[in-house]
Amino acid sequence: MAEFTSKIRTIEWVDNYSKMVDQTKFPYSFEYVNITKGDKMFDAIKTMIVRGAPAIGIAGAHGVVLYAQELAEQNLPIEEFCSKLLEKADYMASARPTAVNLMWAVEKQKEIIKKYCHSELDSESVITKLVDELRINGKKLEEEDIAINKKIGDYGAEVVPKGATILTHCNAGALATVGYGTALGVVRSAYAKDNTVQVFADETRPRQQGARITTLELTMDGIPVTLITDGMCSYFMKKGMIDMVCVGADRIAANGDAANKIGTYTVAIAAKYHNIPFYVAAPLSTIDTSIKSGDDIVIEERSHDEVTHINGKPICAEGVKIINPGFDVTPHELIAGIITEKGILRPDYKKSIADAFNKD
Ligand code: MRU
Repeated sequence: MAEFTSKIRTIEWVDNYSKMVDQTKFPYSFEYVNITKGDKMFDAIKTMIVRGAPAIGIAGAHGVVLYAQELAEQNLPIEEFCSKLLEKADYMASARPTAVNLMWAVEKQKEIIKKYCHSELDSESVITKLVDELRINGKKLEEEDIAINKKIGDYGAEVVPKGATILTHCNAGALATVGYGTALGVVRSAYAKDNTVQVFADETRPRQQGARITTLELTMDGIPVTLITDGMCSYFMKKGMIDMVCVGADRIAANGDAANKIGTYTVAIAAKYHNIPFYVAAPLSTIDTSIKSGDDIVIEERSHDEVTHINGKPICAEGVKIINPGFDVTPHELIAGIITEKGILRPDYKKSIADAFNKD
């Protein structure tokens, strides 16, 4: 069986900076940008140079290292160094509110900072060691992300019917993670087993991640993909042209309600009506067991320009009222399974999610 490895490495720690693909440039060019300062990383996450829940988690972890490197130049006592760095870490975690992976990865870095805070040794050597540990952890999180995605892909491939057409929304691919992808990881693993599998990609207004990013990354890997606009999914479902839906998630509550890119909920309702299984593929780091249901998920409100303009040109009457939530929440009743690195979780999600966290 062919191993299907994505050629894309979305984000990577190099020596003392973070190197990432600039996703605002798609589909016109494929460029890398080096992020060398903490504030620049905050902006890169906020302006979506890097985007996708797992990828912004790694970016956040790298951002904490960048802040640590900057503070280390100030020769501060260790306690002051740590308290300033913890503040900066919290700031980094606030760059985008919905994807819990950002808070999760920054929290991993904060645990390391707290471990070193009360050291009796001289500040300079503790700080050097601490900054090093943060770097090593950033690298470790990158490697783990790829390994987890491959497991998600392989579990997911088991439920992909032969010759299936898989509908996806937004981009939950290599470019939303370090590499391989979650929903598109399932596609990659399924395609490796059966090269008659294909994808229908929703355009995903307003930022067009489906059109700009999903079609690009699948085309790069030679996986057949057909682009459709967001309103078309029911039409193709009714015609029997869609066999399953597989999407990513930005945050999943303890009851299985799943936040993902705006428009996902509509696809889930359409899939239920047409009896098509709707799967969510996500690592356990996307599951926030501290919240009971999707009602508690903070939904990012984004710039109105994303709706009023395309490529810098207005597409509507000037001054029209705009609301632009970046995400919606699909109720757990509409989800056939949550594909994780610990296997496919099925309803009752409260139980299967709790069990997954207790599984080795
Ligand atoms: O606003 P974005 O592009 O960061 O939103 C991305 C999504 O909604 C993805 O589907 C989600 O993060 C899962 S990525 C594996």
